[in-house]
Amino acid sequence: MEKNIAVIRGDGIGPEIANEAIGVLDRVAELYGHKWNYTDADMGGCAIDKYGDPLPQSELDKCLASDSVLLGAVGGNKWNSMPGDKRPEKGLLRLREGMGVYSNNRPAKIWPQLASASPLNADIVSRGIDFIIVRELIGGIYFGSHTTNEVDGEKVAVDELRYSESEIERIGRIGFETALKRGKKLCSVEKSNVLDSSRLWKATMHRLAEEYPEVELTDMLVDNCAMQIVKNPAQFDVVVTENMFGDILSDEASMITGSIGMIPSSSLGDGTCGLYEPIHGSAPDIAGMDIANPIGTILSAAMMLRFSFDLADEADAIESAVGAVLDKGYRTADIMPADENEQKKCQKVGCREMGNLIKENLTKGR
Ligand code: IPM
Ligand code: MG
Repeated sequence: MEKNIAVIRGDGIGPEIANEAIGVLDRVAELYGHKWNYTDADMGGCAIDKYGDPLPQSELDKCLASDSVLLGAVGGNKWNSMPGDKRPEKGLLRLREGMGVYSNNRPAKIWPQLASASPLNADIVSRGIDFIIVRELIGGIYFGSHTTNEVDGEKVAVDELRYSESEIERIGRIGFETALKRGKKLCSVEKSNVLDSSRLWKATMHRLAEEYPEVELTDMLVDNCAMQIVKNPAQFDVVVTENMFGDILSDEASMITGSIGMIPSSSLGDGTCGLYEPIHGSAPDIAGMDIANPIGTILSAAMMLRFSFDLADEADAIESAVGAVLDKGYRTADIMPADENEQKKCQKVGCREMGNLIKENLTKGR
């Protein structure tokens, strides 16, 4: 198979983690006889520095022309004082919108090898953590108008949160379809006790539920969900929610699995061209130090193979290689166990070495 992959290395630790994911993709190509053609695209702070724009049209066009996009991370303190529409993050939002990737899939799954790195007590962890957050990605408050005006002698800021029925329906369907392929349980998360957009969300989910009788639909208010994720995460199979709630809950969900550095994501629209990125940020404080965890990005590359290129064996091989490396006790700093005795059983490695170990442990048909 031959595919064109646009690569956005981005800012902070983005370039180092993306390089390791590319190394792993190349190893997969070698083993399975595929060919990946990479095109570099600039987005985020580095694009602001180069072009004065976080996502110039030329760079978006490279992504739209590709079979899928692999992204490291964007953002950093250096650009924090830029106006809202010129910040690195705005490049990411425009990319998601430009690609039409409305469905963001963020798995929260505990690797048994990392159970002791979870901040939850062992009793809760032992009941299992394996759920997916399906986050609406190109609507809601992120994409409403943002204004700050002077009113009666003081500044007043307004962010608009709007959802149409059709926007809710298309992400709702992804939620139901995802649940059908898993444990057939879907939890719709909203704030319908306060927000109109959430009342429409809830009503739309219930209308859709009639088409999916095999799926058990439950509703949960977002504040309660935040609590339930730490109290009893085993209750969740698939969670479907709007953009901002999904942003917040997916960080929380990642933390209980040990480290945000482990969590990949896929973002898809109606076609097969997807955007694949770890859910963590650009961590400028550790950039260039070769200590970042590349696993979230490497697992994002595996998701690209699985969901955009339909290469399930290759994706399984990457996930097994990650498991094998963890089994052998290799850990980046963020996933080192806190307990001293546990630490002795592990070996701390840097970003590059972690990437190399995963490549070495990659075998065909594992
Ligand atoms: C994420 C990030 C982004 C978001 C930021 C960088 C704009 O936090 O992917 O979760 O809020 O969507
Ligand atoms: Mg986030």
